[in-house]
Amino acid sequence: MQFDTVIIGAGAAGMMCAAHVGGKVLIVDHAKAPGEKIRISGGGRCNFTNLYCAPESFLSQNPHFAKSALARYTQYDFIDLVDRHGITWHEKTLGQLFCDTSAKDIIAMLTGLMREAGVDVRLQSSISDITRHDSHFSFTLHHADKEAEITTRHLVVATGGKSIPKMGATGFAYDVARQFGLPVTETRPALVPFTFAERRFAEISGVSTPARVTAGGTSFDEALLFTHRGLSGPAVLQASSYWREGEPITVNLTPDGDLLEKLRSQRQTSGRRNITTELSHHLPARLVDHLSTQMDLSGNLADWSDTRLNDLVAALAHWHLTPSGTEGYRTAEVTLGGVDTDALSSTSMMAKDVPGLYFIGEAVGVTGWLGGYNFQWAWSSAMACARAI
Ligand code: FDA
Repeated sequence: MQFDTVIIGAGAAGMMCAAHVGGKVLIVDHAKAPGEKIRISGGGRCNFTNLYCAPESFLSQNPHFAKSALARYTQYDFIDLVDRHGITWHEKTLGQLFCDTSAKDIIAMLTGLMREAGVDVRLQSSISDITRHDSHFSFTLHHADKEAEITTRHLVVATGGKSIPKMGATGFAYDVARQFGLPVTETRPALVPFTFAERRFAEISGVSTPARVTAGGTSFDEALLFTHRGLSGPAVLQASSYWREGEPITVNLTPDGDLLEKLRSQRQTSGRRNITTELSHHLPARLVDHLSTQMDLSGNLADWSDTRLNDLVAALAHWHLTPSGTEGYRTAEVTLGGVDTDALSSTSMMAKDVPGLYFIGEAVGVTGWLGGYNFQWAWSSAMACARAI
């Protein structure tokens, strides 16, 4: 069988590309259903883009690489697409847009677009033995116990990264890249909770508080969540993309920066109040209890001199912690790194040295922040590829 374009991976990027590329198109996925990660994303409501999407919110070996695709298919283009399909949405926080009803609406929109475009969709299928001759790619398509030989002019690899292997994530894109001589940068779990030795925060698991979390020189002000195994919550997930093994992170539990003033003024009016009681007005009580086992938090406010209060607030603002690791690909939302951007054209996503071979979406070494950025990269890189073909 012969196609103009074959896309491997019916996730966000693959379906978006298939729906827009034109010509005779085949899309292949080994999963039972397309867009499984879309389905579970954003707590089932899919945070499909971010109003503030800009290249600065992406990590990549080449920070300029994502600019062209993001500029030519923006968050507003995708918003326009969902609006045209009657999908209603809302901004939750920080520019993050979610479906009002269900992430399944996004999947239905993409599968509907593929149907209208006459795309041949093969699920529960895999491919092997990819070769390239005379500007065409050939491979074997496997479905159940049947095999078919396929040739195509354009081969688009959209199989994502390694996060959540239980959902069918594989390193397939990296294998194809290496087979054709493209470099792959170091891959690691990102947007992932930290773990700590001896279940350090188990007794306060479930406690959440606003915090500024800093790793590798980059800070995020969002919620922090203590868990049985360590730290999670948006501020922590964001920081995890900038963290490296063995390095400390800094947690600022007073991100508003006015705790010292508040404690001093309370000391004037309620000097007989216990320091832990007062702190519990500014931090979760269970967290204050936990902190009081590590630092001397005894006495009334009146007993606390300016210097002591200052030291306390400084300690709360510069809590240095060294994670023992992360939860890994088991729970990571994305994979940092991937097919080296230096080997791809930023306008078409085509391999510079292998005409006709494209990589899009999470497989590429471009990783967004938490908050809809990774789906926007999937849409933008897919459109760059579809338009180029
Ligand atoms: P994606 O992983 O979506 O698709 C790859 C497809 O390839 C899959 O269908 C897979 O089955 C298939 N495949 C893999 N190997 C194959 C092989 N060897 N043969 C055939 N098929 C193969 N992002 C965001 O912006 N907003 C959000 O709300 C969330 N929420 C979220 C929640 C959770 C729990 C996770 C794990 C991730 C998110 N993300 C997110 C990240 C987002 O899901 C991710 O960045 C995109 O799905 C990437 O889209 P791709 O199409 O590149 O890969």
